[in-house]
Amino acid sequence: MNRAMPAYVEPPAVGADRSLTNAAVLAVQNLSVRFNGLAAISDVSLVLARQEVFGLIGPNGAGKTTLVNCLTGFQAPTEGRILLGEADTTGWPAARFRSHGVARTFQAGRLFKDMSVAENVEVTATGLGLSLRSARLHAMALLDWIGLADKAGLKAGALAYTDQRRLGIARSLVLSPAFILLDEPAAGMSDDECEELMALVSSIPATFSSGVLLIEHNMRVVMGISDRIHVLDGGKTLAEGTPADIQKHEAVMAAYLGMEA
Ligand SMILES: Nc1ncnc2c1ncn2[C@@H]1O[C@H](COP(=O)(O)OP(=O)(O)OP(=O)(O)O)[C@@H](O)[C@H]1O
Ligand SMILES: [Mg+2]
Repeated sequence: MNRAMPAYVEPPAVGADRSLTNAAVLAVQNLSVRFNGLAAISDVSLVLARQEVFGLIGPNGAGKTTLVNCLTGFQAPTEGRILLGEADTTGWPAARFRSHGVARTFQAGRLFKDMSVAENVEVTATGLGLSLRSARLHAMALLDWIGLADKAGLKAGALAYTDQRRLGIARSLVLSPAFILLDEPAAGMSDDECEELMALVSSIPATFSSGVLLIEHNMRVVMGISDRIHVLDGGKTLAEGTPADIQKHEAVMAAYLGMEA
């Protein structure tokens, strides 16, 4: 684990326009999302860059998952827009975000539980245009990297919970996306498991040349591995800055009173 990916995992030039999949930034401009009367997100702007771990934090219901849904085509903004490099993504369906290098994991698994661990990764790779042979090589390299190679033949549904979360991450890294958005990847893990996973997450920018957006409730963890942190509260931006800035921010600390520190 934690080593460089083998050369054959270099993303092959298939399908989407590589100039888009190589976008340097994923930008949110004045985003608002309303569900009937409820303002889930209000006028939020941020820029996720390649080669960084960008922490997105906030209390339950702050709008974190809704923001990730907008950034991946699972939710249409009510106002504002999302730019991938220079491209305005308004109206893009989720598959288009993925084929243009924006990948995600889900708060709840969404694995194909009756398929093998390897097949779970392979179908994503073939879906993105790889031949079955390339998909198999690619999948094995990713499983090796994430520490699941010895379980490649098991059914995904038979994996322990922690391993299912890892598999979700391996799958989202198919074709080395420009950006990967991780929605609470360590939820439900023990401290040791969480620490191990976060070491892997922090190595993603250098290994895959992918920018990481990380939603994580454990403040110590998110402070430890993020280059920058954006704080949402009630759908609004409360603060953005380095972990050191955020830890000094009184309103942020107040929003977190009673949460684990
Ligand atoms: N599809 C939906 N329809 C109606 N309301 C929604 C929908 N999705 C989210 N919401 C509401 O929007 C607000 C933000 O929810 P969201 O799931 O984005 O928060 P979150 O920060 O991810 O919270 P958590 O930490 O619990 O995962 C909440 O009030 C939630 O109930
Ligand atoms: Mg959420």
